[in-house]
Amino acid sequence: MRILISGNRRGLGAALTDYFSEQGHQVWGFSQASAPPNRVDASDFGQVRDWVESVVHHYGAPDLVLANAATVLSPAPLAQVEPEDFSRLIDVNVKGVFYLFRAVLPHMTRGVLIGISSGYGRTTSPRMGPYCTSKWAVEGLVKTLASELPKTMAAVALDPGTLQTDMLRQALGEGARFFPTPDQWVDKAARLILGLGPAHNGQSLSV
Ligand SMILES: NC(=O)c1ccc[n+]([C@@H]2O[C@H](COP(=O)([O-])OP(=O)(O)OC[C@H]3O[C@@H](n4cnc5c(N)ncnc54)[C@H](OP(=O)(O)O)[C@@H]3O)[C@@H](O)[C@H]2O)c1
Repeated sequence: MRILISGNRRGLGAALTDYFSEQGHQVWGFSQASAPPNRVDASDFGQVRDWVESVVHHYGAPDLVLANAATVLSPAPLAQVEPEDFSRLIDVNVKGVFYLFRAVLPHMTRGVLIGISSGYGRTTSPRMGPYCTSKWAVEGLVKTLASELPKTMAAVALDPGTLQTDMLRQALGEGARFFPTPDQWVDKAARLILGLGPAHNGQSLSV
């Protein structure tokens, strides 16, 4: 399978990349701090499009696309969130998902697109407003896309669960250590992801 993933230098994206590669799949990923040519800012459509075009030109259209790159702010009530911080988070977490899907869709007539969501895309929590807003948007984007895709494709919103990554450490601090690591999570998650197909179009799933 040919797999594209955003945000694969650390955390869940890195664990999935290693797992899929070990299983013999072809995986291409980008992150904001990866070495060129995979240093791509998910919130810059030109960079995302150029990277996708290059991968597709050399290797063909993907079968599976994971919009995984995202960021979080330190917890704070919305009344205290700096507007520029809110804007930057939306640029990465919402526009970044659209940009990746927008870049790959012209090349795909079959396959699966996954927007990595969160429990916070289905519930809310005080002091997590920008992040919750962004993940609810991912759910809406995926469900709308699902209603537009041909029957050979699927768009799915996937809540990965709560995992001990840099993102969780920023949100929870020391409490993050009580949650599973990406390596403990990846086998179950990858099996679920690889099992997705047109029958799952429009679903909101959780690992
Ligand atoms: N961890 C959890 O408990 C949890 C729970 C629910 C949902 N999620 C979701 O799962 C996904 C992965 O989260 P994670 O915990 O693995 O996060 P993480 O450890 O913070 O890793 C985030 C990855 O996204 C990349 N990234 C961030 N901003 C980017 C940008 N502007 N352009 C390109 N790449 C960018 C980072 O790149 P660099 O390494 O280059 O900085 C990094 O590789 C996210 O969508 C997150 O919202 C996580």
